[in-house]
Amino acid sequence: MTIEFPIAATQTERLLNLNRPYYEPTGQEIDLYQAAYEHQIPVLLKGPTGCGKTRFIHFMAWKLKRPLVTVNCHDHLTASDLVGRHITQHDQTVWIDGPLAHAVRIGAICYLDEVVEPRKDTTLLIHSLTDDRRTLSIEKRGEVLHAPIDFHLTVSYTLDDQGSHKVLRQSTRQRFIAIELDYPNEHLESKIIKKESGASDKTIAQLITLAQLTRQLPPQTLEASASTRLLVHAAKLIHRGMAPRQACHSAIAQVLTDEASLRNRLDELIASVFKNP
Ligand SMILES: Nc1ncnc2c1ncn2[C@@H]1O[C@H](COP(=O)(O)OP(=O)(O)OP(=O)(O)O)[C@@H](O)[C@H]1O
Ligand SMILES: [Mg+2]
Repeated sequence: MTIEFPIAATQTERLLNLNRPYYEPTGQEIDLYQAAYEHQIPVLLKGPTGCGKTRFIHFMAWKLKRPLVTVNCHDHLTASDLVGRHITQHDQTVWIDGPLAHAVRIGAICYLDEVVEPRKDTTLLIHSLTDDRRTLSIEKRGEVLHAPIDFHLTVSYTLDDQGSHKVLRQSTRQRFIAIELDYPNEHLESKIIKKESGASDKTIAQLITLAQLTRQLPPQTLEASASTRLLVHAAKLIHRGMAPRQACHSAIAQVLTDEASLRNRLDELIASVFKNP
C-alpha cells in the first residue's frame, strides 16, 4: 500500500511505501546506500535505462522507513520549482514549499531523477545541502532550513550504451558516494522477469538469450540495448497469450528504434530465438 501526498507540481511524486517493493540486489548497493544514509552522505545513482534505479530507491526508502519525494528533473526545472514559490490564493499571497524544501522539512529521502537535465545554476542549489552545512536557503522567505538527521538526498542519471551522459560539474559530483547499477546477471534477470511477469521458464530463457544478442550488437548500433524493463514488458505480453514474436516486436524492436533496417535486424534476432511465430 502506498500513501500519496498531495502533488504540488506535475514532475513531483511523494509517497510513503508501507509494502516492501520487490528489489533484487545486484551487488553491494544496499549496504553502500545504508552506510551513506547513516553518515548523511548523499548518493549518486547511475546506470542504463531500465536497470532498476527507481525500484532500488523505492526499496531503500521502504527499508529505511522514510517517505520518498521524487522529482523528475527536466531542462526547464528552476530553483523555484525545487524550493518553492509564492502563489495567490483567495486574494492572499501564500507560500508553497517546493519538493526539495518539503523533503527537508519532513526528513524524507529526496530523489532527483535525471539530475543532469536542469541548468547548472539550478543544481548549484543543492551544494549547501550536500556538504557539512546541510542547509537549504529559501531566499524569497529569508529562511534557512537545517536538514534533520533523517533527510537524505539521492540523485540519478542514466548512462547510454556508450556510458556517456550530460555532465555534472565536479564540485557537484564530489559531494556524493556513487553507486553504479547495471543490468543484472542472467540468473538474477531471469528471477526478476519471473517475479514481475509470471511467464514460463522457457519464455524467460528465450528472452534472456534475446537480450544478450541485443547487448552484444556492435557499439553504437542501438542508442540503448534491451533493458530489464523491456524484457519484463515482453514477458507480460507473452504470459497473457500474445504470440512471442509479436510481443517482442512491440515491446522490444519497435521501442528500441524507429529505423526500419535496424528494426528488421532486431526482428531477425527475435525470429532466431523464437522459432515459432
Ligand atoms: N534489481 C531489480 N529488482 C527488481 N526489479 C527490477 C530490478 N531491475 C530492474 N527491475 C525491473 O525493471 C523495471 C525498470 O526498473 P526501473 O524503473 O527501476 O529502471 P530505472 O533504472 O529507474 O530506469 P530509467 O533510467 O529509465 O528511469 C522495474 O519496474 C522492474 O520490473
Ligand atoms: Mg527511473
